[in-house]
Amino acid sequence: MNSIFFSYDNSLISSEELVHTAEKLLEEIKCMNNAVALQYEDDRASINLPDDKQALKKIKMLVEEKKELKPSYLIVVGIGGSNLGTMAVQEAILGKLYNQLNPNIKVLYADTVDSDLIDDIIKIIEPILKKGENVIINGVSKSGRTNETIANFEILVELLKKYKKEYEKYVVVTSDKNSKFWNFALENRFDVLEIPKKIGGRYSVFSSVSLFPLGLIGIKIDQLLEGAHNMKSKCLSDNLLENPAAVSATLIYLHRKKGKNIHDLFLFGNDLESVGKWYRQLMGESIGKEFNKGKKRVFEGITPTVSIGSVDLHSMAQMYLGGPYDKFTTFINVKQNNSDMIVPDISEYSKLVEVIQGRRLKELMDAIMEGMKTAFKKGKRPFTEIILQDKSEYSIGQLLQFKMMEMMYLGFLLEVNPFDQPNVEDYKVETRKILESKKIVSSS
Ligand code: PA5
Repeated sequence: MNSIFFSYDNSLISSEELVHTAEKLLEEIKCMNNAVALQYEDDRASINLPDDKQALKKIKMLVEEKKELKPSYLIVVGIGGSNLGTMAVQEAILGKLYNQLNPNIKVLYADTVDSDLIDDIIKIIEPILKKGENVIINGVSKSGRTNETIANFEILVELLKKYKKEYEKYVVVTSDKNSKFWNFALENRFDVLEIPKKIGGRYSVFSSVSLFPLGLIGIKIDQLLEGAHNMKSKCLSDNLLENPAAVSATLIYLHRKKGKNIHDLFLFGNDLESVGKWYRQLMGESIGKEFNKGKKRVFEGITPTVSIGSVDLHSMAQMYLGGPYDKFTTFINVKQNNSDMIVPDISEYSKLVEVIQGRRLKELMDAIMEGMKTAFKKGKRPFTEIILQDKSEYSIGQLLQFKMMEMMYLGFLLEVNPFDQPNVEDYKVETRKILESKKIVSSS
């Protein structure tokens, strides 16, 4: 079943040029298909995550076990690839205002080491613990060495210790097997979930990294994976024009070669903002490279930007329609909302704005998007369009898989390694050196 529609009628690239360039991908499509047989031994291994029944079984068992504790909060402690996917799926499916809607299990994200963020989390969690309620802490770090994650994890586990005798029951660590974090978790009798070696953070959304926290808060992870699996088959096709990841990657690549080195993901859906941030990391880390695969210094990259419709039309439309021709846009729209809000049909209000009375908000949103697309066409601004049938687990699973495979193909075309992030490691090493060279200023 397909619940995603991808259109590239307005890409401003001729079909001859598209097909001619996409043919280069046939070699990589072969490698991708081979990677399916190699399971977790190839860099492209993340494409196999949706089919890992054994991992899913283990995750589901742990989800059920932790649900028995009836937690009122889940705190995901992780950063970058270790929490962006979770946040993207949670918000897309359950909404940005999820916590305020009084769900059984609320979720908080402890990502950066902003003292005020962690203090606020403690202000929320401590009274919960004082009341005798339960909180699950899920520490997620592939390397097990990320300063932010480990610092926040330690603070939050210490808080848990104050209120829970058997605090270890409430902690789950997700990491590389045998990382320091993993071993520490075992020593402390925390439950552990493994991230397969070849799965990098930005490709980990269908692994235990996201499936455990998402499962715990009630996301139908089977359906998420089913959507991903279905899209994987499409994106492995060597029938190039039927392969959305190959087509999309080729168009982004061709525009990059024509000087469009900004890619804007323009999402018409308030709850899709975190999908945008997830994609920003996916493109930023996969494509932004100092060296190409031939070890030549290239400073390759396409700057990913994220826009939310209709909000950002009130801040960025001027730039997008009047600014330089340096951008290629992908619009994402959702066909069917979860709700159906209507503007009151009361004549008194027509004194304000006359055309909106009695109309569905969705109709207004669609008209705004159509208006934007028409303006893009008139201005010869290239774009593609993805329409999601809805914001179900299945559709979101399809979308994320599409984008991850698109990025692998784009890396191939640009001749960079889409799986490493050497410069992210650089800053981590430098940070550690700075901390090692400085005395501890205060500890109480
Ligand atoms: O994609 C990446 O590799 C990074 O963004 C990492 O996910 C991020 O730095 C967190 O790393 P770790 O999971 O090792 O704590």
